[in-house]
Amino acid sequence: MGEETTVNTMIQIAPSILAADFTRLGEQVQQADAAGADLIHIDVMDGRFVPNITMGPLVVEAVRRVTDLPLDVHLMIIEPERYIDAFADAGATNITVHIEASPNLHRTLQLIRARGCRAGVAINPHTPASALGELMYMIDLINVMTVNPGFGGQTFITEMTSKIARLRAMSGDAKRFIDIEVDGGINEETAMTAAQAGANILIVGSALFNNSGTIAENMSVMRSILAEAQQ
Ligand code: DX5
Ligand code: ZN
Repeated sequence: MGEETTVNTMIQIAPSILAADFTRLGEQVQQADAAGADLIHIDVMDGRFVPNITMGPLVVEAVRRVTDLPLDVHLMIIEPERYIDAFADAGATNITVHIEASPNLHRTLQLIRARGCRAGVAINPHTPASALGELMYMIDLINVMTVNPGFGGQTFITEMTSKIARLRAMSGDAKRFIDIEVDGGINEETAMTAAQAGANILIVGSALFNNSGTIAENMSVMRSILAEAQQ
């Protein structure tokens, strides 16, 4: 993938509310929505699969009330299959589980789809793309972790770029367009790298909510960078 590679797919931006000001969460979600966000990313952490504890179904349900955008729920929890119903009931659109936390991944994906949600699989930096090979026919989206899960504001692991490209090729081989998200360390510089490698959804936390500009300004900077890649 060279610098000059163009991106043919429409790139979507998913603000990650982990970086939002929780004292005004509703307002910030609405600002992101008004600024043209394509979906809202919600990071659920249990203090077991990852060292941090964040939000649960109650927050998903609250966000559901302030926006009509699809809700992209990223479960960084052990035994995620126990909570599919709760997050589906709360209004999740996409439910993503970690392959590393899912010994019976096929069954868990079936469960997610049976609840009318889109089934996502997240893969940690050490997990090879090939681990998803046999299930490409039933995965709706893949979240490629470009940091170690658990915290916002970390640095993009550049070595993950080739994994994104491999997964995009695997999606082609499976003759299905699978959404490929990148999660962690996406900013004005890394957005382009991820999009050129084949990601079509960029999850962005700190660079949208904790940057110098407003959410709308930060979003429009990111959009104009991506527009260059799409010319
Ligand atoms: C990390 C989370 C990410 C995080 C990204 O475990 O899955 O979604 O919010 O935040 P930034 O964009 O700040 O790296
Ligand atoms: Zn996430």
